[in-house]
Amino acid sequence: MTSTVRTTLLAMPLPRPTSPPLPPVADGPGLEHEAHPSAVARALAAQRGLWAKHVRFDPAAPYEVTVYDDGRHEVVLGAWLPGQVSSAHEHLGRPGAVLVLQGALQETTWHVVTDGPEPGRRHALRRAIEVDEVRSHGSVHVHALANTGVDPALALHVRSRG
Ligand SMILES: [Fe+2]
Repeated sequence: MTSTVRTTLLAMPLPRPTSPPLPPVADGPGLEHEAHPSAVARALAAQRGLWAKHVRFDPAAPYEVTVYDDGRHEVVLGAWLPGQVSSAHEHLGRPGAVLVLQGALQETTWHVVTDGPEPGRRHALRRAIEVDEVRSHGSVHVHALANTGVDPALALHVRSRG
């Protein structure tokens, strides 16, 4: 493929993400309905056939697509090119977990400082999430994910519905 063709393909609008038909739990990943988000992330990561076919990279922004939803847990596959950063977002009432499948992802979380000279100030904390590491979060969580590496990054983000 010549560089001209490649440039043209990258400039084409990407298809809107579509969710595949989602299997019922009994026929799906074999998840317990009350499974912890981190266990759901591990189970889905091991079932590559469920998510690998949905991997896309969008030069304009991190790509996200729901790859599983059983009504209790929604699992979103995220794909970041080097340097891309997802928008900061809240998970009010939705505990979850992030499992990095490949690449170098850094999570930024924001916490409200309750003491010291500036109580109420938001403090940002940045931490790398290693490949195969699961980072769980509670029902009150504000974060953003960034690809700080030189290769594309992938992660599964489980969002529970309470
Ligand atoms: Fe999130």
